[in-house]
Amino acid sequence: MRSPIPDYLAEVRGAVEPDRSGAPAGYIPELAAADPERLGMAFAMVDGEVHACGDADQAFTIQSISKPFVYALALADRGFDTVLDKIGVEPSGEAFNEISLEAGTGRPLNPMINAGAIATHSLAGTEQMGAGDRLQRVIDGLSAFAGRSLATDESVFASEMAHAHRNLAIAHMLRTHDILTEDPATVVEGYTRQCSVLVTVRDLAVMAATLANNGVHPVSGQRVVPGPVVRQVLSVMSTCGMYDAAGDWATQVGIPAKSGVAGGLIGSLPGQVGIATFSPRLDAHGNSVRGVSLFKRFSSDMGLHLM
Ligand code: DON
Repeated sequence: MRSPIPDYLAEVRGAVEPDRSGAPAGYIPELAAADPERLGMAFAMVDGEVHACGDADQAFTIQSISKPFVYALALADRGFDTVLDKIGVEPSGEAFNEISLEAGTGRPLNPMINAGAIATHSLAGTEQMGAGDRLQRVIDGLSAFAGRSLATDESVFASEMAHAHRNLAIAHMLRTHDILTEDPATVVEGYTRQCSVLVTVRDLAVMAATLANNGVHPVSGQRVVPGPVVRQVLSVMSTCGMYDAAGDWATQVGIPAKSGVAGGLIGSLPGQVGIATFSPRLDAHGNSVRGVSLFKRFSSDMGLHLM
């Protein structure tokens, strides 16, 4: 029997397509120049079946959607104690680029905000690794989640680095608290390259499905990270993945999720499906406007809310 999913995706695409509200990210010039009309979506089932619709093969930068995956790599590489010692798991209730450090310890409140993600980047790979090998570990790890070799977009990277004063300031704060033990500028450079990894909405759905499949890639069957790591990552995505919109998201959509400032959005439903959408116009929280609308439709039409 033919799957009903392609027709369903075409129908919801048509429903959200006319919405022109929001604007592409302005603080990274290369992202501001993105075609705002792009709209793509994909579902990757845990059995390896993938359905896509719209601009599903358009490459864009992963940005903050890299954060949960690199958090998974850090947990797998260094263990829970080391990572939790440096990065908390509490929602910040603040914007993604606020300083949001715990009073006293200086630990970033969680790994989904920039402060936590910069610290997370420094914890991927082994303690002895230099910056270049660490970045390679991150790119190889993201590629393992996607099931294909991913590359960076050097012009988006350079464009963000030229305006990275806020992330550099956050990294220097982390260095004063010994959350970072290396040169802050080098860590920000690695983190920014991590954010510039190019993906399609199809890749993101498969990456989300690897989380939904308890860390095993749904097509290749390769284990990417251990099960307990996935539980930790999905828990933090559900409380912190949508930043200061996390409460609205939890009540209205109810799927562990993560957004990126290039317009990507992923959701991961354990044991079922990885979902991804791409539409560059963002709301005030830095989340894709039409992506949020699509996820609200998916959740209510298919009863995907976890509660
Ligand atoms: O560090 C930054 O500001 C960007 N590279 C990533 C931010 C981001 O994607 C926020 N998410 N919606």
